[in-house]
Amino acid sequence: MLRCDRTPAWGALQAHYATAGKSFDLREAFAADPKRFADFSQDAPHVFADLSKNLIDAETQTLLLELARQCGLEEHRDAMFAGEKINRTENRAVLHFLLRNPAPAHGGRAPAAPEKIAEELAEVHQTLDAMLAYAEQLRQDEAITDIVNIGIGGSDLGPQMAVLALDEFRLSGKRLHFVSNVDGQELAGVLAPLKPQNTLFLIASKTFTTIETMTNAASAKHWFEAQGGTNIARHFAALTTNVAAARDFGINTTFGFWDWVGGRYSLWSAIGLPLAIAIGAQRFRDFLGGAHAMDEHFRNAPLAQNLPARLGLLDVWYRNFHGFTSRSIAPYSSVLRRLPAYLQQLEMESNGKRVGLDGQALPFATAPVLWGEPGTNGQHAYFQMLHQGTEVVPVEFVAVKRAACSLPGHHNKLLANVLAQAQALMQGKSDDGGHQHFPGNRPSTFLLLEALTPASLGALIALQEHRVFVSGAIWGINSFDQWGVELGKVLARGLEGRLDSGDTAGLDASTAGLLQRLRFS
Ligand code: F6P
Repeated sequence: MLRCDRTPAWGALQAHYATAGKSFDLREAFAADPKRFADFSQDAPHVFADLSKNLIDAETQTLLLELARQCGLEEHRDAMFAGEKINRTENRAVLHFLLRNPAPAHGGRAPAAPEKIAEELAEVHQTLDAMLAYAEQLRQDEAITDIVNIGIGGSDLGPQMAVLALDEFRLSGKRLHFVSNVDGQELAGVLAPLKPQNTLFLIASKTFTTIETMTNAASAKHWFEAQGGTNIARHFAALTTNVAAARDFGINTTFGFWDWVGGRYSLWSAIGLPLAIAIGAQRFRDFLGGAHAMDEHFRNAPLAQNLPARLGLLDVWYRNFHGFTSRSIAPYSSVLRRLPAYLQQLEMESNGKRVGLDGQALPFATAPVLWGEPGTNGQHAYFQMLHQGTEVVPVEFVAVKRAACSLPGHHNKLLANVLAQAQALMQGKSDDGGHQHFPGNRPSTFLLLEALTPASLGALIALQEHRVFVSGAIWGINSFDQWGVELGKVLARGLEGRLDSGDTAGLDASTAGLLQRLRFS
């Protein structure tokens, strides 16, 4: 397959950028085309998307779709869904979509390549049934009032984000806590008011080796025993692919998953247990169902009407042709406040790569920096820069039509604000170039959910997973490994001992100097 920057479409996009893209003006585009909103917006499962306030015209779309074809996007997508080992550096298939393929009993239909992945699918359903039965049993268990999830990265961000987002559906009488940081202050703070007889610890770790999680798990076990707790089997469960390590730790209740689920794609697996406890088995299945509907859309919709494809291609247009370095995500929903953190891992751990599949350095940019806060809070912090700063930052708004809360007046104000921000970014305001001048023509995408439900959240997250897949496929990188996190882990292991011993031999002067200052003797 041709590298993206060597395709004819890439060259055509460069030419199009020089002649029309660079000088494109959204206000003129809307004035010239009364159908712009209709032409550049679309429905996808559970999500309506308005792309019309982006710096694109029909020609841009056509050329981006051509780029997708020339880079083999559809073949790469089909290879994933067929169970090919597309995670080449780890020699693994990428099958997280299977986790949401409903069983026939729940209205599912066979996946596209049953002979290859049927066995995996059967195991998925078996584990899911067991995990959901456990979740339901816990929901009935009045003695357990506090559930502490200990995990980090994909074993924390997903369940934490989703439990918060679906708070409206949470069973009362169960408090869910999330501990991730190896900074003991976090775990100590969570444990302080808890009683061992009322607490369940979920040790969530794909590998069951991650230092933060193992340290917190050991301290939690120590606390449990020191407080007189005895029944580890009842009060600890593990969510992991490494069942043997969990057993060695002393945990018998384990819900497994598989090496073909990346950490940042694991919310749909046993890692989702905190969510299943919070919202119950049926709603968890609805959550999977929403994601599955988006999978089917990504798999089957023609590229021109394929929302993940359109968003991923837009990301490429902005990163590689406009040269925008970041994207800001602005969920106008307080319960979606952990969404930006979740998406940071998804996008930047997946596509923050500098080499292609062949290991050769790439001469073009890849993942943008992703950042954001919920609206309207962000408006009173960094939106100044979005409106009047020197950098253009495409913004992705997420809005929810139906309010979960019935306090009068609030929701209309929230919606008016999200509309106003998108409008202000685009329209700008003329003030002869002075302090109150807004240049406008600043792009944004608007994602709209009818309501925040398990199904719509599932669809929204799957949409984001697939759009990251699309840009990664165009760039020709492996979106499913994360070697970049390893070096720091290795160095930290060595430095931990040196902090005790004070040995600075062979260290650079800065690290040695700081290490000395961090020691007490
Ligand atoms: O260090 C990065 C990472 O491997 C992430 O990819 C992963 O989500 C996180 O650490 C936690 O890993 P584990 O679930 O194996 O503890």
